[in-house]
Amino acid sequence: MLNIVKVSSDEQFNEVGAGLVAGLLQSNPRAILGLATGSTPVGVYSQLIELFQKGLISFAQTRSFNLDEYIGLAPDHPESYRRFMNEKLFNHIDIDMRNTHVPDGTAADPEQAALEYTRMLDEAGQIDLQLLGIGHNGHIGFNEPADELQAHTHVVELKKDTRAANARFFNSVDEVPTHAMTMGIGSILKSRQILLMAKGASKADILKRALTGPLTTQCPASLLQTHPNVVILVDQAAGGRLS
Ligand code: GLP
Repeated sequence: MLNIVKVSSDEQFNEVGAGLVAGLLQSNPRAILGLATGSTPVGVYSQLIELFQKGLISFAQTRSFNLDEYIGLAPDHPESYRRFMNEKLFNHIDIDMRNTHVPDGTAADPEQAALEYTRMLDEAGQIDLQLLGIGHNGHIGFNEPADELQAHTHVVELKKDTRAANARFFNSVDEVPTHAMTMGIGSILKSRQILLMAKGASKADILKRALTGPLTTQCPASLLQTHPNVVILVDQAAGGRLS
């Protein structure tokens, strides 16, 4: 079931997003979080840091698994997703770094590293709350539109439009890695609850297509329609075509 929450300010967006995570941690301090990068969740992470600093939540017993990482970027590269997570969240809360997992972008054997990530996810059991953004082409994590989608963590070649969209974080589009490692659609859909977040008018069309259009591997986010518990958090612009 899809529950759409449309908010009217950034502040509300961050409060609702962080509120969902905080509520979960308060009822289950050992919850397993699935985390996302991109610009959309940044304010939610800031709000979580604030709640932690106020003593309202703790991540001490929490484990986290991130969705994806660029192949070839070392953990300390300014645009690596590991560094993003450390800077935007992990360094400011009480999570044990050993309990935070981000796919390894510099593994000598990425295919093997992907298998290992899947093994760790399987061992963890089930992600309690998976945070997601959405790409303009309907990708979630880095599961790009394709004739076939993968269930488990795998290496993926990034689409030209995805590299172009993410070029804003690099000096030029040529510096954007050509490949990434991403959790598969099966692992994402296995989560107990999913929070899909989107902001801005540029996401309005793809959200409409993903949430109300046909299920298709050409729009990976459309498969979220099959999940029993998805919260869609949008601002007025991104939710402009959703009723
Ligand atoms: C990247 C990430 C996705 C993210 C998407 C949207 O490609 N791999 O996980 O959801 O971008 O990013 P943004 O929130 O900046 O629009």
